[in-house]
Amino acid sequence: MKIMGNIRTILAIETSCDETAAAVIESGTRVLSSIVVSQIPLHKRYGGVIPEIAARAHTESILTVVETALEQAYSKENARQILSEHIDAIAVTHGPGLIGSLLVGVSTARTLCDIFDKPLIPVHHILGHVYSNFLAYSQEVKTEIPNSKFESKTGNQIPSVSDFVLRDSDLPMYPFPFLTLVASGGHTELILSKSHANHQLVGETRDDAAGEAFDKAAAVLGLPYPGGPHISALAKKGNPTRFSLPRGLARDSSGDFSFSGLKTAFLQLLQKLHQAGENIESLKVDLAASFQAAVVESLVTKTMEAAERYSINRIALAGGVAANTALRDSFAQVSKEQGISFSMPDFSYCTDNAAMIGAAGFAATLVRGAFPWYNVEVMRNPELVL
Ligand code: KG4
Ligand code: ZN
Repeated sequence: MKIMGNIRTILAIETSCDETAAAVIESGTRVLSSIVVSQIPLHKRYGGVIPEIAARAHTESILTVVETALEQAYSKENARQILSEHIDAIAVTHGPGLIGSLLVGVSTARTLCDIFDKPLIPVHHILGHVYSNFLAYSQEVKTEIPNSKFESKTGNQIPSVSDFVLRDSDLPMYPFPFLTLVASGGHTELILSKSHANHQLVGETRDDAAGEAFDKAAAVLGLPYPGGPHISALAKKGNPTRFSLPRGLARDSSGDFSFSGLKTAFLQLLQKLHQAGENIESLKVDLAASFQAAVVESLVTKTMEAAERYSINRIALAGGVAANTALRDSFAQVSKEQGISFSMPDFSYCTDNAAMIGAAGFAATLVRGAFPWYNVEVMRNPELVL
């Protein structure tokens, strides 16, 4: 059973990994509120996300995060009243992700839909990242989560740099076809989107994800988890051509990525430098810059090759690694040289957030409506459809 009808304002929930997030989105592009509570401090000491800890932490913070998103969207208290009066539907990430974590978001969404009689929209996490490029507005988020032991990330007022969204319209103009590189800690995928109803996976990593590669290289350099931002900060001061590192699958035309060879080469390089008695500390900036250059070149080259293969002249960047400034700059430059339109989300919508789930959820309602809560379940590996 599907529920069609006029869905304009969506409460979105995202709990697929280690961020507990809720947002209120209007017409698929306008962010009325976006709250992201990161569990990074809880997982840091283990050097990665521990699924059981993540699920428990989601359970502890989800209701506060949802309430805060609702109240902030309308600058007034009484989340129950806001939900019942202003929200047309709830969107929730139903997969892929950590099952225990997904269950917290999906159970919360199902319960709220049952109590408040709202339809539910299941959203594929990766398509959430794809639609992050349509978020045109963000609002200043002032509220800290009260008494939270977690880290709170806040949105800001920088508008999306997307150059193909009709910003002031209630009906966003979607620029099909376009190609999105989704690069995060768990995914490195190229998605070709021909319409809201047609998204195809045209390339993916054969081993590590790009963010995972950043995190592993950072760990080898003794930097804290997650390592991407630390490598990026060091790399700004380093020489990217100082060390020569491999570009995975450079001569492969499948569209796939590979980062495990780079990871091994980086580890071997460090061992060699150690054995030679080099001062690693003083080489860290060049090591970080050389490593980052290898990842960036692979990501950009493979994406541009795929754009050419499918005759696409619009590309977009998404996922946590999209926050990397070297990657953003390189994509901006190459796409300009090749006369291709390029979009990337505001920094706050690169890493996991619920605003992007609301954006994808809205698009899903244009394709197939929403569902009664009891028809939406967690899925380990859902189909790549809205
Ligand atoms: O999308 P995300 O928040 O979570 C996943 O779905 O995985 O991405 C997190 C990943 C981490 O691996 C992190 O190191 C990486 O994104 N990351 C970065 C940067 N900021 C986050 N990698 C490189 N440079 C950055 N500035
Ligand atoms: Zn993600």
